[in-house]
Amino acid sequence: MARNFLSHIHAGKVSPQALKPTITFGLGVACLTCMAILVLTGITLFLYYIPDQAKAYERILHITTTLRFGRVVRNLHFLAANALIILSVLHLARVVLTGSYRKRWLNWTYGLVLLLLVMFANFTGYLLPWNQISYWAVKIGSALLEYVPLIGLSLKSFLLGGDDVGHETLLRSFVFHAGFIPPLMLVFVGLHLWRVRKDGGLAAAEFSDGVKVNADPWLYRAEAGVAFSVLAVLLLLAFFIDAPIYERANPSHPPNPAKAPWYFVGVQEMISYSAMLGGVVVPGLVLGYLLLLPKLDQSTTPGGKWFASDRRVWSLIFLAIMVSQIVFIVIGVWFRGPNWQLVLPF
Ligand code: HEM
Repeated sequence: MARNFLSHIHAGKVSPQALKPTITFGLGVACLTCMAILVLTGITLFLYYIPDQAKAYERILHITTTLRFGRVVRNLHFLAANALIILSVLHLARVVLTGSYRKRWLNWTYGLVLLLLVMFANFTGYLLPWNQISYWAVKIGSALLEYVPLIGLSLKSFLLGGDDVGHETLLRSFVFHAGFIPPLMLVFVGLHLWRVRKDGGLAAAEFSDGVKVNADPWLYRAEAGVAFSVLAVLLLLAFFIDAPIYERANPSHPPNPAKAPWYFVGVQEMISYSAMLGGVVVPGLVLGYLLLLPKLDQSTTPGGKWFASDRRVWSLIFLAIMVSQIVFIVIGVWFRGPNWQLVLPF
């Protein structure tokens, strides 16, 4: 059955270039694997969770401590969600640094939508345990929206279901997280994969002089290898790394410092230097750069080649964005203490 399904989404023959592990590093397939794990573990958690301020925290405790395999299922969901953010960004990085967005503007745009959905899914899931860290992280994360010009305040009150994080927010987060985002993601994943095929396979195919090999078994084996490796690693980690529980949310006792979820801490850190630059100008420029990259890049080297010299400037801008974001996230997560003062992490 799996073979039948794969034969429907792949071309019968593919370029040998596309099979080279150093072209994609299997990152797109790794993202798909995380999504499949998230759907399966999510359905299980859905059966026991209640999106109610008075019950949510206790339900998470119940899932973790009483249900057989509940702890591992929750850990797996947590790990796959965080891995998906990292893998999506790495996949985006490989697309940029191999110039694989060339002549693939539409699929690049589908990819950006997927990335936004991944972030949104993570953010809405963050609140569901209704613990002290998740409550305050969502409060800080949603406050960052106020910096979005024109629509920021309306967007914030739409997501929160009011002016502050409360029962409405929990309910909305649950509806978005479990009911709305997953089907939307499925649609965009479908479009994304259909476009890869419609664009003539991976960009690397342009280097292969028209030579093709059978997708079955070579490509299928490579993809199965990546999928099973991701599953094995996450499953192993799920036995040893526990998704945090913390204490129950207490809206009258903010932790000091209160931090956004780790993937938004970079923006929080930038805002601590300048609200205008860190909250509006820099994120706006990065978004504009990502949206327009396939149009801005006028290089002639076909996509699929790492660090082509005529794309150097675009690669360097991208690397500068990545490195600075990583630095800001590291500072925000490990080197910020009470009142956002710099501290040593040990
Ligand atoms: C988050 C979920 C995502 C999933 C599940 C996903 C999945 C995939 C898969 C399976 C492929 C084909 C093989 C591969 O590259 O490994 C692919 C290719 C591609 N993806 Fe994604 N992707 C995601 C996000 C993104 C993002 C964030 C971008 C960039 C904005 C992007 C842009 C592209 C492009 C342009 C291709 C074609 C590359 C080529 O022809 O070499 N994708 N994606």
